[in-house]
Amino acid sequence: MIVDIYNTDRRYNIIYADPPYRFSQGINPRTTFQEKAKEELNLHYQTMSDREIMDFKFEQIAADDCVLFLWTTDAHLPVALKMIENNGFTYKTIAFVWDKQKSYMGKWTVKCCEICLLATRGQAHKLVKNFKVRQLISERKTEHSAKPQKAYENIVSMFGDIPKIELFARKQVDGWDSWGNEVEE
Ligand SMILES: C[S@@+](CC[C@H](N)C(=O)[O-])C[C@H]1O[C@@H](n2cnc3c(N)ncnc32)[C@H](O)[C@@H]1O
Repeated sequence: MIVDIYNTDRRYNIIYADPPYRFSQGINPRTTFQEKAKEELNLHYQTMSDREIMDFKFEQIAADDCVLFLWTTDAHLPVALKMIENNGFTYKTIAFVWDKQKSYMGKWTVKCCEICLLATRGQAHKLVKNFKVRQLISERKTEHSAKPQKAYENIVSMFGDIPKIELFARKQVDGWDSWGNEVEE
């Protein structure tokens, strides 16, 4: 079900989010190869500035006990941590490291992974039913920005069937509510 997060009484124990981080701003003819590649990444969908992401509010849909799973790029880690803090959540751990089974040149090292942070509010630890889910997800990257199917499965495996929503979703997933400007009925 698609939900308007600014106009709903629903409260979720699980919030799963993959924000549209913006890479570099504007076109500069002297940009490096890597920077040009990042500019191209911005063309796939509407993106948000670091400030917009840090100020993005989702606490209004969080249950008292709530776990946030938040994807971040390496470069946007400080932005993601600020977003967590600004919503009254506490960063706990890296829930998932996704090995995309594909590599590309980074500015410092050859990149092949993305990380999904876990943050909580309230007594969220008591929601966990299965502590045996592995941190590493090894699944080949498909379309731009699409996250691995295994991430949804892992979260359900950890918590069972409790109220959950995906923010910045592009498709609806069975058992999950969703919100995002590209998600369709
Ligand atoms: C990183 S993608 C999400 C990809 C998704 N996790 C997947 O596996 O396909 C971010 C999404 O947020 C959407 N988006 C951008 N700005 C938005 C806004 N202001 N409000 C809602 N959605 C927005 C983008 O259009 C895009 O669909």
